[in-house]
Amino acid sequence: MKVAVLGGGAWGGVLAAMASARSHDVALWEADPTAAVALGRDRTSARSVPGFRLPDAVVVSGDAEGAIAGRQMVIVAIPSELVRGTLLGAAPKIDAGTIVVCASKGLEPGGGETMIEVLRAALPPESRAVVLSGPSFAQEVAAGLPAALVAASADVAAAGVVQAALGGERLRIYTSDDAIGVCLGGALKNVVAIAAGCCDGFGLGASARAALITRGLAEMGRLADRKGGQPLTLAGLAGLGDLVLTCTGDLSRNRQVGLALARGESTAEIVANLGHVAEGVETARTARALAERLGVDMPITREVAAVLFDGKPARAALTDLLARDLRPERV
Ligand SMILES: NC(=O)c1ccc[n+]([C@@H]2O[C@H](COP(=O)([O-])OP(=O)(O)OC[C@H]3O[C@@H](n4cnc5c(N)ncnc54)[C@H](O)[C@@H]3O)[C@@H](O)[C@H]2O)c1
Repeated sequence: MKVAVLGGGAWGGVLAAMASARSHDVALWEADPTAAVALGRDRTSARSVPGFRLPDAVVVSGDAEGAIAGRQMVIVAIPSELVRGTLLGAAPKIDAGTIVVCASKGLEPGGGETMIEVLRAALPPESRAVVLSGPSFAQEVAAGLPAALVAASADVAAAGVVQAALGGERLRIYTSDDAIGVCLGGALKNVVAIAAGCCDGFGLGASARAALITRGLAEMGRLADRKGGQPLTLAGLAGLGDLVLTCTGDLSRNRQVGLALARGESTAEIVANLGHVAEGVETARTARALAERLGVDMPITREVAAVLFDGKPARAALTDLLARDLRPERV
């Protein structure tokens, strides 16, 4: 297939390399001119995962329209807040019937739209929108370690094309028809991971972390249900799978954000030092507003947003979480 990847950061680079390894003809668009030059010349950039080398066959371009024109599949791996604008700008060059795969994991700031909602709104009606999510550190996938993802779309045939085109011996891709549930799993787990990082940073122990993960999953499921997703999707790769990875794996930037909050660093300092996008930061604010608007109780998300954006001390947030009214366990 002729494939375009939009975004030459950690994940976009690895997805381009995977598609190239499956013998697809791959063009990679990188918006940052310095990174685009580095990727084209050195086959790696400051945003690439350590030791990564982009295959020579991948053509790097700083011109989105040129990279997209004539492609049968377009994979998007840029921060969620930029997906709509990027696709709207590129839409005239996206051919009818093109499969557009969003691998970004976040909510759109403002309205809190999931990535599948953004794709459907930004793309021509005949294009085929799919989301790709699940537990996957770019660094591990780049190293050829096994991973499993889920390609989700109401257009089940399009999800099947993604499964066949990108899956391989070490990358097992499942399909799902619940794109909303898959999107919310991938976005909301990043917020819980910030809480888990705080919890570990304060040395509160494995029992407390397990409780946070489980109660985090419960609130993720409540929002998914309210948004029309299937709550059981959250028990799958894009929910529980990615939640466990992100809450426990030290390669997770969102977990690192939580660890830094526990050390007393400010949100501005943490974001400035990361060098990569940590979607959970913006998602916390957006998900808190969305949950309030939809009347969904999301105490962990609420506390993470209060720490990140309202200056609430992380210890006070943990105390408030534990001090809430006693109630039956709702899962
Ligand atoms: N890194 C991972 O392991 C991983 C795994 C799965 C999903 N994801 C998701 O993939 C997405 C990208 O993550 P990443 O790790 O590659 O981030 P990154 O910070 O390494 O790269 C971000 C990319 O977005 C581009 N970008 C930044 N500002 C832009 C702008 N104004 N216009 C267009 N492009 C712009 C950057 O140039 C870069 O190509 C995120 O939503 C993330 O949650 C990441």
